[in-house]
Amino acid sequence: MRHGSNGVTTPVGGIQAGRLGAKTSNGDVLHLDAGRDRSALITGGAGFIGSHLAERLLDSGWTVYALDDVSTGSLENVARLQAHPNFHLVIESVLSASVVSELVHKCDVVYHLAAAVGVRLIVEQPVHTLLTNIQGTETVLEYCTRFGKRVLVASTSEVYGDHREERPLQEDARRVYGPTTARRWAYADSKAIDEFLALAYRDERDLDCVIVRLFNTVGPRQTGQYGMVIPRFVSHALAGSPLEIYGDGTQTRCFCHVSDTIRALEDLMDAKELTGEIYNVGSMERVSILELAARVLERTASKSELKFLSYDDVYGRGIEDMLHRIPAISKIRDAIGWRPTRTLDDILEDVVDHERSHLPTPLETAQRTAASASRDG
Ligand SMILES: NC(=O)c1ccc[n+]([C@@H]2O[C@H](COP(=O)([O-])OP(=O)(O)OC[C@H]3O[C@@H](n4cnc5c(N)ncnc54)[C@H](O)[C@@H]3O)[C@@H](O)[C@H]2O)c1
Repeated sequence: MRHGSNGVTTPVGGIQAGRLGAKTSNGDVLHLDAGRDRSALITGGAGFIGSHLAERLLDSGWTVYALDDVSTGSLENVARLQAHPNFHLVIESVLSASVVSELVHKCDVVYHLAAAVGVRLIVEQPVHTLLTNIQGTETVLEYCTRFGKRVLVASTSEVYGDHREERPLQEDARRVYGPTTARRWAYADSKAIDEFLALAYRDERDLDCVIVRLFNTVGPRQTGQYGMVIPRFVSHALAGSPLEIYGDGTQTRCFCHVSDTIRALEDLMDAKELTGEIYNVGSMERVSILELAARVLERTASKSELKFLSYDDVYGRGIEDMLHRIPAISKIRDAIGWRPTRTLDDILEDVVDHERSHLPTPLETAQRTAASASRDG
């Protein structure tokens, strides 16, 4: 691997499974396992949740390797960390077996968060979604098994499928899926296969793993670009453009602050006695999408209008929305005492502050308008 001037590490050819050692930009060999304390690999470490987790682990004294192809994540997410001596960003794909092998070998634990996420991406790039989520996870699990490393696998509430009842979902609930011709199920199915794979590696090959089903997680740095509702509403409200509501807005969601989510991830990883288990991680504070829009408008003092769109209008085809998604969190509470501490109001405050601090300057707005006018002819 080669370390660049800003802490970015790029792999060099011919990395062998399990070989240690890397070269810095000045050619020095880094002895990455010498004198180190504890090190964690975060796949998807330049993503929204991954970058928050990286910060938290660095604060707790870990050395952190972030493996990310920056497809939906960004260098900006980890810009603050680049100068940290214990942070190393490796820009590569989890599909690269040699890189995954080397990183898993040199780290003590692995948080596997890299995935193709977001409904828009899944509908538009189903092959990419399936390969990243299934083959990428299989690669990570294979090397965690081979090198005896504990791994936390990020799954999703989507694996529960299309439950119509308004009750909290327990980890052992049945799954209710639509047909394979409806593309949105590709994400749920790929994550369900990840869970099957992790449990199979655990049962057959003794992999030390814990699976986390994340419900909607929100906070600063989440991008609205791939369909996530809160950053999308907030940025539109601040810009004075319409808030687009998919469907009739009566569907409900529970939003968990990212700081609560990463605390759950770290504590589950630390609880070494918990292995081969699945835990829901999410908030039980429920809100309809219509009410969410009203609260965003109020908090931003925005006069934006609401615009209702059908799912077919937005994605073309293949989308069915879940009406409700409420986590049962008694299992994780009983296991490690975790519960969310931040409210939806806290989340909105933090996301509004973040989006305000990233508003384009008048010059940038003028440049974007000019660029789009020349593109549109
Ligand atoms: N945010 C949520 O509400 C939520 C809900 C359920 C599950 N999850 C899961 O949590 C994890 C993190 O999601 P997030 O919200 O931070 O999204 P994100 O898109 O910000 O993070 C995913 C990261 O993985 C990276 N990535 C994608 N393909 C990769 C590849 N082939 N190799 C290396 N890196 C790759 C992306 O660039 C990105 O940085 C994902 O596994 C996701 O499925 C998130």
